[in-house]
Amino acid sequence: MQMAHMPPMAPAPPQLDPAKLAPFVDPLPIPKVAKPIGTRPNAYRIPIQEFHAKIHRDVAPTRFWGYGNSVPGPTIEARSGEAISIEWPNRLPPKHFLPIDHNLMGAEKGLPESRTVVHVHGARVPPASDGWPESWYGPGKSATYRYPNEQEAALLWYHDHAMGINRLNMCAGMAGLYVIRDAFEDSLNLPKGEYEIPLVLMDRMFRADGQLYYPVSQLPDAPWVAEYTGNAVLINGKLLPYLNVQPRKYRLRILNASNARFFFLSLDNGQPFQQIGSDQGLLPAPVAVSRLDIAPGERADVVIDFAEYVGKNILLNNVPSAIMQFRVANEKVADPSALPQTLRPVRRFTESEAILTRRLTLEEFDNLIGEPIAHLLDGKHWHEPISEKPVLGTTEIWELLNTTDDTHPIHLHLVRFQILDRRLLEVSDLVYNEKVVYRGEAFPPEPNERGWKDTVRATAGASTRIIVKFERYTGRYVWHCHILEHEDNEMMRPYEVIAPRHDK
Ligand code: C2O
Ligand code: CU
Ligand code: CU
Repeated sequence: MQMAHMPPMAPAPPQLDPAKLAPFVDPLPIPKVAKPIGTRPNAYRIPIQEFHAKIHRDVAPTRFWGYGNSVPGPTIEARSGEAISIEWPNRLPPKHFLPIDHNLMGAEKGLPESRTVVHVHGARVPPASDGWPESWYGPGKSATYRYPNEQEAALLWYHDHAMGINRLNMCAGMAGLYVIRDAFEDSLNLPKGEYEIPLVLMDRMFRADGQLYYPVSQLPDAPWVAEYTGNAVLINGKLLPYLNVQPRKYRLRILNASNARFFFLSLDNGQPFQQIGSDQGLLPAPVAVSRLDIAPGERADVVIDFAEYVGKNILLNNVPSAIMQFRVANEKVADPSALPQTLRPVRRFTESEAILTRRLTLEEFDNLIGEPIAHLLDGKHWHEPISEKPVLGTTEIWELLNTTDDTHPIHLHLVRFQILDRRLLEVSDLVYNEKVVYRGEAFPPEPNERGWKDTVRATAGASTRIIVKFERYTGRYVWHCHILEHEDNEMMRPYEVIAPRHDK
């Protein structure tokens, strides 16, 4: 994606160039499934700690901060309707190894540098277990959260959410998968077991010695930069991995866990992905997608059938270069799995179900020479009083009015929602006259966006409308841009689900 303007970055040290590495020499790692502790079947403990891991055969081990001892961390396997609890002990060393900007809200000097708090993205949980950004804790401390899993099968993910340093903690490696399964999905006979492969995509910059690099601005006291993107794409923690596959159907569960990079994925044999699910679970029916666009925070569940490619190698491309190789075995196999024509019905909301529409701007603030200083939601900073207070059990339309040149992936905690439409705006009318003037007709969401979502690409210079029902829990949650540099610099706001009044 294009940035209109970036604050000038300080010159970077020599970088690792993935184009100079031998491609496809490491097998794709599959993150281990987390095991419950002791005799209690539904209790887990996942420490947050420093470790070193190999990102490529020919690169020395890289320091990471993450969950357990791998990036991504161990995968949580949960069943719909069966609650679990997870203890998340912070065992990090005291000093951060990436550049903290103490000017940012919640990142003031004097706080423990290696503070953290875990959020399960896409989980419907009570506020006390959601990972409120200010509920971080330092090394030597711990928190135990309860996850009810009262929701449909979906690929969720867990990651750090510490106020003001979230971008650094996630760059350091703090992310993992959280899969919820249910009986309905089981009945579809989709590819499973060794034929279901998670792909966690995260781009990074590395120094020539293989260590993580996070750039800084030219201002020593204000090192924040507006976006972190790197030339090296890790897939399940490896650069340019390969995967041996059989000529049959596979289910790939793709997560974009990058700080700021949008991926545009395709297969070099021209074969489309059959997309069967998005953020919050199954689509009504498979959608053939030849270029899969996926923004930070979003997930895509796809089926690929390799049956016709016996003995061939197929590249997974992120426009324009290859990031992974599939090697299809040279023998025919039986494939008992299915790609059903219909998946899970999704009842579409009608606009009339909403009791109100909130118009919320996405804004970028620049200094006098056009460098971004902060990004705001509806013109408000994090610490201002809560302005969005939906009533439990009601449905609302949130119209995201993006006045910037960037597409922002906007995520709401607690809820799942549907995308209504997008429509171009006369941005200057909004910015200078606070008037909403549309340009042209509204266009409907893409076919692969017509399921349940928790993160939506709010298109540059456009209105994006979502329709949301606020269910199950009251209390404080957050909504934010999932470009982590924006989130850390004021593009995050609290909201509060309030109880209905019973006074009449
Ligand atoms: Cu992916 Cu507020 O989170
Ligand atoms: Cu979330
Ligand atoms: Cu943003």
